[in-house]
Amino acid sequence: MKRLENKVAVITGGNSGMGLATAQLFIKEGAKVIVNARNSQRLSESSYLVEEGIRVIQADVSVKEELKDFFALIYKEFGKIDIVFANAGGGKVRPLEMIDDEHIDSIFNTNVKGVINTVQCALPYLSNDAKIILNTSVANVKGMPGLSVYSATKAAVRSLTRSFASELQPKGIRVNAISPGPIETPIFSKMDLTDDQQQEFASNVVSSVPMGRTGKSEEIATAVLFLATNDSSYINAFEIAVDGGMTQI
Ligand SMILES: NC(=O)c1ccc[n+]([C@@H]2O[C@H](COP(=O)([O-])OP(=O)(O)OC[C@H]3O[C@@H](n4cnc5c(N)ncnc54)[C@H](OP(=O)(O)O)[C@@H]3O)[C@@H](O)[C@H]2O)c1
Repeated sequence: MKRLENKVAVITGGNSGMGLATAQLFIKEGAKVIVNARNSQRLSESSYLVEEGIRVIQADVSVKEELKDFFALIYKEFGKIDIVFANAGGGKVRPLEMIDDEHIDSIFNTNVKGVINTVQCALPYLSNDAKIILNTSVANVKGMPGLSVYSATKAAVRSLTRSFASELQPKGIRVNAISPGPIETPIFSKMDLTDDQQQEFASNVVSSVPMGRTGKSEEIATAVLFLATNDSSYINAFEIAVDGGMTQI
């Protein structure tokens, strides 16, 4: 039997990278999968997602009203929500002296407020033994130049994992996080870096990974699947590092 038969899974930021790889794995495992993202052009190019059986809906996680409508629509169409992967996020590189309000607000709005909005707006529709998985980052325990705001948001999400788990445990809902190391996704092309800077950034990061390579989105998806099933039934409020040993060795 497939591991997610009859399950309804919602993945934020699912038109790209880890969210997309997780959506594809969940479909293979028998789930009904709904993803959102913001970028209408990329979403309209996502007809292949529809062909794969993934339901695609536009919503910005930083706008609570959009998420309320998003989850209400999912409930209307699917009748329940069993799994939420709060994955949408990103950030730009800025040295300390270049940080301004716009930089802080845009990253916090998506990475922190967006995660709170996601879990809060999903809550009325969650089934009794729902699983919630948040996407943090190795940046929440590592100091990296130019990533102070992004890293702070991911430390906040690590904290939210614990708080949400303690609040939702009485309802039988488990909340865990995955903490990816450097994973090959389009995120690096969105960080306001030139091609040369991107190359330099990537090689600097990879040199600090004991396994000596970047990870693949599929290697994140399998960890999310573990947390989304009863294979992880005694794991709660925890963060799994999927980082080639970067934060441990
Ligand atoms: N790649 C890495 O090395 C790495 C490492 C650690 C943690 N992470 C985290 O992993 C998560 C996934 O990133 P990824 O690497 O897979 O990058 P990605 O390919 O750029 O995917 C990010 C996804 O989030 C969506 N998104 C961004 N802002 C959004 C918003 N306000 N509302 C709705 N959707 C939004 C994007 O779609 P639109 O732009 O169309 O909205 C896209 O679907 C992020 O939280 C990221 O911080 C990444």
